[in-house]
Amino acid sequence: MIEKGKPLSLLGDLKKDEIEEKRVLVRVDFNVPLSEDLQVNDDTRVRAALDTIEYLLSHNCIVILMSHLGRPKGKIVEKLRMDPVALCLEKIIHRKVIKLDDCIGEYVTKMVAKLVPGDIVLLENLRFHKEEENNDPVFSQQLASLADIYVDDAFGAAHRAHASTVGITSYLSSYAGFLMAQEIRSLDKLIFNSDKPFISIIGGAKISSKIEILDRLTEISDKVLIGGGMAYTFFAAQGLEIGKSIFEESQIKFCRELLKKAKIMGKEIVIPEDVRATYEFSEDADSFNVSIEEIDNNMIGMDIGSKTIGLFKKIISSSKKIFWNGPLGVFEMDKFAKGTNEIARHIASLYGKVFSVVGGGDSIAAINKLGLNNKFSHLSTGGGASMEYVAGKKLPGVEILRK
Ligand code: 3PG
Repeated sequence: MIEKGKPLSLLGDLKKDEIEEKRVLVRVDFNVPLSEDLQVNDDTRVRAALDTIEYLLSHNCIVILMSHLGRPKGKIVEKLRMDPVALCLEKIIHRKVIKLDDCIGEYVTKMVAKLVPGDIVLLENLRFHKEEENNDPVFSQQLASLADIYVDDAFGAAHRAHASTVGITSYLSSYAGFLMAQEIRSLDKLIFNSDKPFISIIGGAKISSKIEILDRLTEISDKVLIGGGMAYTFFAAQGLEIGKSIFEESQIKFCRELLKKAKIMGKEIVIPEDVRATYEFSEDADSFNVSIEEIDNNMIGMDIGSKTIGLFKKIISSSKKIFWNGPLGVFEMDKFAKGTNEIARHIASLYGKVFSVVGGGDSIAAINKLGLNNKFSHLSTGGGASMEYVAGKKLPGVEILRK
C-alpha cells in the first residue's frame, strides 16, 4: 500500500519579507519541442511556468530561470541552446528575458550580480555540463551561489536526481513552485481520493515502456482500458491472430500475468473488441473495421474500432475519475485518429462531472489539436514523471521538497 507523501514546502507559503526582492533561482522544465529552424513548436511548458514567474515578479524578485533542453550529454550542442526558448518566453510574458550563454562560472556570476528587481534571466542549457546529470555537488553549489532561494517548478524533470533538481537543495532553502504544487495536488487527488469508479485508459505503442504503470493502475483503478499499439500484444497473449500489427513478443508473458492478476483482484482489463485495420501502413490505404477475431495475417491494426469506441465511451460515462496516457491509434494520421479524438471529446464533455487527468505528450498533443485543453481537470506537463508518480514511485525532485 503506497501512502500519500508529506506536504511540500511551498513558494506560496513564504511570508512577504522572506521573498520580497530576493534573487530566486527557478528550475523550470523548458524541454520543449523545437522545429528544424529552431522555433518552439509547443509552448505549453513555457506557459505552465508563468504563475511562478509572475508571482516572483510581483514580489520584486530577480528571477533566474534554468532548464535542460534535449539530451546533449555534457557537451555544447549549438541547436540545443536556450535562445529560442528565451524568445518564446519574452513573447508570452511581454518582458525582456536576458539569455546567458552559460549557467555557471565567472561570466554568469558577473552578469547576475548586475541584475535588478524585476529582471528575468534564462541560463544556458544545464546539460551542456555533464555535472548536471551526475548530480555533482560542486556544480550544485555553483548554481546555488547565484541566488538566495531555490524554487523547483520542473515537475517534468522531477524523476531525475540531477544537480539542478536535487543537489542544489543542500545549499539553498528550497520550495515547490505553483506548477509543481498543482501537479502533485492533482496526481495525489487522482491516486488517493476514494471516488469510484476510477477508469484508466492506456494507449501508445509499447507495453515495455509502461509495465510499472500498467501494473499499478490495475491495482488502483476499477477498469483499465487498453488501446493503441500495445493492444496487439494483449491480443497475441490470448492466442489471436494480429497480422502485421505492432507487438512485443517479450511482453506476452507480462500481459497474461496482468490479465490473471486483474481477475484475482476483481478488476477488469478491457481490451478492444474491434479495430480499424489496413494492408498498408499509410493514410491513403483502404481501411476496414474488423472484429479482433477477423484480423488476418496481412492486416495492420491502426486504431480502435467503432464498437470499441462505443464501449469505452459507455465505461467512461459511468466513471468519477479518469487517468489517460497514450493515444489509442496512429493518431498522427488523421484517418486513424478517430479513436483518440472521440475519446478525448467524450472525456471533455464530462468536464465538471468527472475528475480527468492526462499524462503523456502524445495524448496532450491530440487534446491541444482539438482545442480541448480547458476541458480536462489536469493535463500533466510531465510525461515520464507523471507515469512514475502514478506508478507509485518516489520522484527524487519531489521528495526533496517535502517538509
Ligand atoms: C521530459 O521531457 O520528459 C523531461 O523534460 C525530462 O527529460 P529527459 O527524459 O531527457 O530527462
